[in-house]
Amino acid sequence: MMYTHERSIIGLMACDPLGVIGWKNKLPWNCSQDIIHFNELINNNVILMGRKTYESIPYNVLSRSILCIVFSKSEKINILPNNRLKIINSLDKGLDVVDNIEKYLTEDKKHFIGQNLKFFMIGGASIAHLFLEKNLISEFFLTKIYQCYNGDTKLNLDLLKQWKKKKIKSLEACSVYHLVRK
Ligand SMILES: NC(=O)c1ccc[n+]([C@@H]2O[C@H](COP(=O)([O-])OP(=O)(O)OC[C@H]3O[C@@H](n4cnc5c(N)ncnc54)[C@H](OP(=O)(O)O)[C@@H]3O)[C@@H](O)[C@H]2O)c1
Repeated sequence: MMYTHERSIIGLMACDPLGVIGWKNKLPWNCSQDIIHFNELINNNVILMGRKTYESIPYNVLSRSILCIVFSKSEKINILPNNRLKIINSLDKGLDVVDNIEKYLTEDKKHFIGQNLKFFMIGGASIAHLFLEKNLISEFFLTKIYQCYNGDTKLNLDLLKQWKKKKIKSLEACSVYHLVRK
C-alpha cells in the first residue's frame, strides 16, 4: 500500500553509538542536555509515538505538545486528563490525523496551525522503523549519546545510513545531528 500525506513529519530521537534507545521501557541514560533539546522542539507542536513510548514519558513533558498521537491496537491505555491525546490503531489513521489536524485540536490550540506547526515522530523503535521504512519522515533530529549502554530496544541506524547528516550541536554528553533524506 502506498501512503500519501501532505504534511512533513520529522524524526526526533536519541541513541547510543550502536543505536540503543531503550531499556525496560525507559531511556537507558539520564541526559539533561538531550531532555532540554527535546522539550524545546516539542513545545507547542504535535508528537506521534508508540504506546510504550507514551507510557514511558512523564505527563508534564507530554503536555508541552499540543496533541499526542499515540499508536495502539489495545484498549488498555491510560487517557490523559484532557483532550490532547488521539489514539489511533493504524498508520493510515495516524496520517489522516496529521493531514486534518484542525479537526483534532482544541479551540485554544488551533492558532498554532498558522504558526509553523511541526509534527515530530518521537519513537519508539517500532514506530520509527514503520515511518522510515514507508519513507514518511523527511528529516530527523538524532541525538547521539557518546557512551554505550545496555538496552533492549534499538533504532536500526542502517535506515538512516544514506541520509545527509550535519552536526548542529556539540554538548558534553551528546551531539545533535540534523539528517535529511538524500
Ligand atoms: N531514545 C529515544 O529517543 C527513545 C524514543 C522513544 C522511545 N524510547 C524507548 O524505546 C522503548 C519503546 O520502544 P518500542 O519500539 O518497544 O515501543 P513503541 O514503538 O513505543 O510502542 C510499541 C507499541 O506501539 C503500538 N504500535 C506499533 N505499531 C503499530 C501500528 N502499526 N498500528 C498501531 N499500533 C502500533 C503497539 O501498541 P499496543 O501494544 O498498545 O497495540 C505496540 O506495542 C522504551 O524503552 C522507550 O523508553 C527511546
